[in-house]
Formats: sequence, C-alpha cells, structure tokens
Amino acid sequence: MIDFDSKARQWDQNPVFIERGEKIAAAIRAAVPLSRDMRALDYGSGTGLLSFPLRDALGHITLKDSSAGMLEVAREKIAAQGVTNMTVRQADLTAEPMPEERYDLICSAMTLHHIPDTRHILAVFHGLLSPGGWVCIADLDREDGSFHGSEVDVHHGFDRQALAGLVTAAGFGETRFETVFEIVKETEQGSRAYPVFLMVARRG
Ligand SMILES: C[S@@+](CC[C@H](N)C(=O)[O-])C[C@H]1O[C@@H](n2cnc3c(N)ncnc32)[C@H](O)[C@@H]1O
Repeated sequence: MIDFDSKARQWDQNPVFIERGEKIAAAIRAAVPLSRDMRALDYGSGTGLLSFPLRDALGHITLKDSSAGMLEVAREKIAAQGVTNMTVRQADLTAEPMPEERYDLICSAMTLHHIPDTRHILAVFHGLLSPGGWVCIADLDREDGSFHGSEVDVHHGFDRQALAGLVTAAGFGETRFETVFEIVKETEQGSRAYPVFLMVARRG
C-alpha cells in the first residue's frame, strides 16, 4: 500500500504530475461536451491536479480521495484561489455503501490501478452517474510492474481491450481510448516511457 498522506506535501512540486493532469484535462475537454450545468466527481483526486484545470468548464466538482493528507493540500489550494465550485470529501468507495448523490461526469486520473477490484469500482461509478453521464478514466497501459518497482500491490496498468470489456459489462456504452501522456522514468533497465490512456464511456 502506498502511503499517499506522506507524499501529499511534495505532490504538486513534481512538474510531470502537473503536466499529466493538464494533458488529461485537455483530452477530457476535447472528448466530452462539458458544461456549467454538470456536476462532476474526481475520484482519487489527490491534490486536485485534474480537477483544477477542469473547474471553469463544470458547474461543480466533488474531489473524493481516501487520503486525508492529499485532500488537505487540495482544500488549501481551493481556499487560496478562492474557488467556489469545488468541494473536498474523504471517501473510499471500495469500502462504503453507495452514496446518495449522482453525477453527470466521473473522472479519475492514475487511481484505477490502486483499486484491487476493478469490476466493483466500475459498477459503483455506473451507479453514481445519472443517465447519459460520462466516465473518463486515465491510467497506465499494461506494463511489466517496473513503474511502481517493488510496490507490488497495484495493477500493472491495464490492457485496453480487457478494460473495455469490464466497462461494457458494468453497463456503459461504447468505450473510446486515446494516448494522452507519457511518463518517462529511470528504471533498473534504463530510461523507459509509460503511456497513459484516457478512456471515455457513457452511461445509457
Ligand atoms: C497516483 S495518485 C493520483 C492523484 C491525482 N488524481 C493526480 O493525478 O495527481 C492516486 C490517488 O488515489 C487515491 N486512492 C487510492 N486508493 C483509493 C481508494 N480506494 N479510494 C479513493 N482514493 C484512493 C490516493 O490516495 C491518491 O491520492
């Protein structure tokens, strides 16, 4: 288990994380007709690096994360910038009953690989969306485990076709994938690029 609380204060000091959030947000803006009527959930929001670049295109964004430390940083940024349409809530939807609220968009960046039961969280996302709502998930393509090194309790990215099958089985319509970013890391085998996809699907 990665201790995100201990990483929270340094998170926004990584320019790669900032650029990744901006690139994913730009791809969501291009793929989904966003509007100020829409209520969105950013699941596994961390410090808000995806939500902040989306905030002016949406009515409201709820940032949910299981890490109190990440959310504390998000809360401070919201207050410092005087943002009025973003709310922070600590939550772990893998271990809680289905909340009452419904959204028009659920977005999630680099969080799916930290959730053991992909099938279950996709069903939760489906249940949390209003009819016609969108799910936008950005994560790593299938990799050999070198991305997280010895931290083995995560998915090693996702095979696009296999993930599309799970998304369809959860009740969503057609899935679209595109490569939106590449994370370059130094590994024991030298410099490596890890592509990041954005998957977009819609609830019927
Ligand atoms: C790699 S970080 C990505 C943060 C942010 N989305 C970004 O792109 O900068 C993964 C985030 O998922 C959160 N997370 C992991 N498991 C979770 C769970 N079961 N429920 C909610 N959040 C979770 C972690 O606390 C962390 O903030």
